[in-house]
Amino acid sequence: MIHLRDVQKSYSRGDQTVLACAVDRLDIESGEQVALIGRSGTGKTTVLHILAGILRPDRGEIDVAGARLDKLGEAARDNHRGRNIGMVYQTFNLLQPFTALENVLMGALFGRGAGGDAKERAAALLEKVGLGDRMHHRPGELSVGQVQRVAICRALINDPQLILMDEPLGNQDKATGGQVLDMMLQIASDNDKTVVMVTHDPGSAERMQRTVDLATLRGDTATSSGATSVETSR
Ligand SMILES: Nc1ncnc2c1ncn2[C@@H]1O[C@H](COP(=O)(O)OP(=O)(O)O)[C@@H](O)[C@H]1O
Ligand SMILES: [Mg+2]
Repeated sequence: MIHLRDVQKSYSRGDQTVLACAVDRLDIESGEQVALIGRSGTGKTTVLHILAGILRPDRGEIDVAGARLDKLGEAARDNHRGRNIGMVYQTFNLLQPFTALENVLMGALFGRGAGGDAKERAAALLEKVGLGDRMHHRPGELSVGQVQRVAICRALINDPQLILMDEPLGNQDKATGGQVLDMMLQIASDNDKTVVMVTHDPGSAERMQRTVDLATLRGDTATSSGATSVETSR
């Protein structure tokens, strides 16, 4: 489902180059549920965005859900993401003028889930995460934890084969987070979906089948203190 080889992404800031992530090799098979861990700033969000096709790295092979993303342009990657991938962003990325229900439906617009019963499926997902009585609230009228759960529903609406989640439970209390994770993992194992979840919570990581520490994927450039900053010569 996921095969990365020699992937590297850097950012230039003035005369400084910041290595945002480096992955020599990462293989995740279809149906696996994987926790991606690592200290803050080690490139977890960057890797997830590369897997989703949002970001294109400077180099490397990226084979995700049947497509070589490193060979595709932006429009083709967007189309591939809409059809195959459900993404829960660390910053949620809900549209403020729209209600919870409309935001979940928006996910269907960009994928293959826009069929006749999309509204019923969106409502059922919101019910499942305990937001049955908040469907017509806008993001500004919801708590952060509730917004996060709306973002999870939006990622699931297209029934994607690959679910990528960036600390999706970071703002949940333990009981609610546990319930939402139960629901997601149930959906995933019932339908043989692949899940990659960035998490800082050892309890959540333990629930997954496998834990991958980003620091162990970067071969000879490995550091334990976050992204490597390299001063380039002027
Ligand atoms: N747009 C950007 N410009 C410059 N540096 C960036 C940018 N985005 C991320 N970085 C740097 O890349 C590193 C990895 O970021 P990120 O993937 O968000 O880490 P994590 O999710 O593990 O906390 C960080 O050191 C961050 O400062
Ligand atoms: Mg992050």
